[in-house]
Amino acid sequence: MRLPSAVRIVEVGPRDGLQNEAVTIAVATKVDLIERLAAAGLRAVEAGSFVSPKWVPQMADTDKVMAAIKRAPGVSYPVLVPNLKGFEAAVAAKADEIAIFAAASESFSQRNINCSIAESLVRFAPVAAAAKQAGIRVRGYVSCVLDCPYEGPVAAEAVAAVARGLSKLGCYEISLGDTIGTGTPGRAQALIETVSDHVPRHALAVHFHDTYGQALANIYASLERGIATVDSSVAGLGGCPYAKGATGNVATEDVCYMLAGLGIDTGVDLEKLAAAGRFACAALGRAPAGRTAQALAAKQAP
Ligand code: HMG
Ligand code: MG
Repeated sequence: MRLPSAVRIVEVGPRDGLQNEAVTIAVATKVDLIERLAAAGLRAVEAGSFVSPKWVPQMADTDKVMAAIKRAPGVSYPVLVPNLKGFEAAVAAKADEIAIFAAASESFSQRNINCSIAESLVRFAPVAAAAKQAGIRVRGYVSCVLDCPYEGPVAAEAVAAVARGLSKLGCYEISLGDTIGTGTPGRAQALIETVSDHVPRHALAVHFHDTYGQALANIYASLERGIATVDSSVAGLGGCPYAKGATGNVATEDVCYMLAGLGIDTGVDLEKLAAAGRFACAALGRAPAGRTAQALAAKQAP
């Protein structure tokens, strides 16, 4: 299969990244980061989540963030929503897109959203229906698509069943989450082959955490299998609060550098993106995780 000529990047740093950072970030800093990411050319910037603040305190101010961002034309600002309460908050915040999130392993589903996989799909049904009614786009996530931190390897058929379920609820796209970053390219390709029997490839995205340093290779392998939407996090921020030891997503800078080298259009200005990453890292008091960001920062040093 030929590589795509363009790839849509879904920037998840302000949500997936910041939800797991130990340092609490001011609303103004989150807003600044989101605006910088949009200004760098990203067309989808996940802005936060309307989940229980007891479960994920870092996202408790998503309403304030959504109220403060200046929305750029042509950019969507999705927010994660686990139930109708979260959906109502998303509507109040004038979200143009929401994401519902399920898992392919029962243990992770219980730890992450406190219910079984089947219960989660039942819970998401009225959320997706209400979103459709309100003209709000719905994206779906499946976590633990290759391995679960509690159960080990996850069968591709189990992933396909959840992806199909989310798709039937009306999700325009299903993002396949390698939550703990243990995947390798052959397994990623095998997964895509199985899932694409149930959800078309153009409606699939990949979401690799980079715990074992395999994310870029996995993304390339996914492109070879017809995937053209990639989730990533500026500066490789984050991890997952319910997956011990999991590091952040693949760094957006690394993805953009690789895609530019392949002649694949992303619409992203790498210098502006890296500057946004340095801004986030300064606020967090940490260095960027991605190698491209590190290389660009080193060139900047006097
Ligand atoms: P629960 O405790 O079973 O919920 O949690 P509940 O309905 O029994 O409510 C308990 C309390 O939470 C109540 O408050 C509710 O009002 C409140 P109390 O009466 O005790 O004061 N509550 C809420 N508050 C604000 N917003 C809401 C909301 N819902 C209930 N929406 C629940 C169930 C799903 C709410 C909880 O488990 C939760 O919030 N989980 C979210 C966990 C999360 O955000 N995880 C990270 C995102 S997923 C991820 O990172 C993976 C991904 O990146 C892909 C990948 O890498 O694999 C997407
Ligand atoms: Mg994630």
